[in-house]
Amino acid sequence: MATPATQDLRQTGRPGDPCTMVIFGATGDLTRRKLIPALYNLAKENLLSREFAIIGVARNELTTEQFRESLTKDIPGFLGCPLDNDLWEWFLKRITYLQGEFNDPQVYARLQGELQRTEKEHMTHGNLFYYLAVAPTFFGEIATQLGTAGMLAEEDGKWRRVIVEKPFGRDLDSAHALNQQLRKVMGESQIYRIDHYLGKETVQNIMAFRFANGIFEPIWNRRYIDHVQITVAETVGVEQRGGYYDTAGALRDMVPNHIFQLISLTAMEPPISFQADAVRDEQAKILHAIQPFTAEDVLTHTVRGQYGDSVGTDTRMPAYRAEPQVLADSATETYVAMKLQIDNWRWAGVPFYLRTGKRMAARHTYIAVEFRRPPLRIFRDTAVDHLTPNTLVIQIQPEEGIKLSFAAKTPGPIMRLGTVDMKFNYADYFGVTPSTGYERLMHDCMIGDATLFQRADQVEAGWSVVTPLLDVWKALPPRNFPNYPAGSWGPKEADDLLARDGRKWRAVEG
Ligand code: BG6
Repeated sequence: MATPATQDLRQTGRPGDPCTMVIFGATGDLTRRKLIPALYNLAKENLLSREFAIIGVARNELTTEQFRESLTKDIPGFLGCPLDNDLWEWFLKRITYLQGEFNDPQVYARLQGELQRTEKEHMTHGNLFYYLAVAPTFFGEIATQLGTAGMLAEEDGKWRRVIVEKPFGRDLDSAHALNQQLRKVMGESQIYRIDHYLGKETVQNIMAFRFANGIFEPIWNRRYIDHVQITVAETVGVEQRGGYYDTAGALRDMVPNHIFQLISLTAMEPPISFQADAVRDEQAKILHAIQPFTAEDVLTHTVRGQYGDSVGTDTRMPAYRAEPQVLADSATETYVAMKLQIDNWRWAGVPFYLRTGKRMAARHTYIAVEFRRPPLRIFRDTAVDHLTPNTLVIQIQPEEGIKLSFAAKTPGPIMRLGTVDMKFNYADYFGVTPSTGYERLMHDCMIGDATLFQRADQVEAGWSVVTPLLDVWKALPPRNFPNYPAGSWGPKEADDLLARDGRKWRAVEG
């Protein structure tokens, strides 16, 4: 239930700076599903400057009018709330479209003309916000073209910022090369490498939970914590993205980015302030502290899987190899599980188990922190035969909340114990605000706050951890694929990984 005090927590903040946003890849899925609805939501919350304009750039032959029409057709389906027609009219007037190839210098010359026009018409103060919502092969190309055309130079207090989508590289070498290419034409402070997991309220709340409360931090270490489990389970398959996914796989797609965000926020030391670099320094230290995988570790501490046809589920789901644009003998993994160790004083000896997969039995993302059992079994002469460890579960999605499980005496004359929960659900306290998860990130970029974006060193540290796995897996192609049925909890080897340590994956409820 919302209390009066919770109202005060909903501070709206200041609107983003006046600016023109240039979206490269304006006719793609990301633009219509996430970016436009998120910008509209910001406008609705008065978090978008009134001095704002959008120029969409893409290859498709469209006029501005046609572009606006297609956005108008799509927006209701992606908004999650009724459209305010007046606001949408205001918004549409600020959108123009420019057709062209991303590698054509002429396009950038025309774009400059358009930018001068929007600056005058919408008073955008000359600030420019480029969003690269394009295939990764174009990231470097577009940045170089913008640099060559002088469109990244920050002069007279006018800012130029570039949001780069994922995937940022496909291994350490390619991520490093891309960083170098970007740094040739702009400063690190102009680069906003996005990871949409950091736009999720529940992910941002990990920091609030840990550092705005005094009671958890003293027990947040190897002395009290037995192990940590992170599960990112998806029920979807690869849908229409088989072409991309078959060259990427679950490891590249989810681990060095989204899952490493969850690990670094869970494991980092308290930053000295909430300034972008103070937070990112601590996150980076955790990634550097992950024990490097030897070839032997890859064999014993990691599991890969690929889904086959569903078995016994209500709806029949085809095997990964039968998905569109996937090779019929594909060796790409759609599931990965692993055990990591973080080599620092806080976490030495505490395993972090993680797993993620497509076509799993339920959609659930959570971090479960399992505490050590009490040191003395004082109930040994009673009917209590075992003690269930305390667990703190941070539920990221679809449930959003935090749950602490502990033992309680069940009523009656005999000493018996049951496990009970203390729960916090976001929706109960704060209601539900329609959100795409991109609002906060775009607003942060418009006010110059890079805390929730990745620095070059973080991205490279993430890739350094997973690159040895990619190398060993490539050298030893899987022989047992497909090894889990669509709609299940993944391959048996992932259960064995924990069973060898006397542990098991937390059962996901309902
Ligand atoms: C994307 C991956 O980055 O994240 C997708 O490329 C994945 O494969 C998606 O499905 C998961 O995001 P979310 O927000 O649905 O957990």
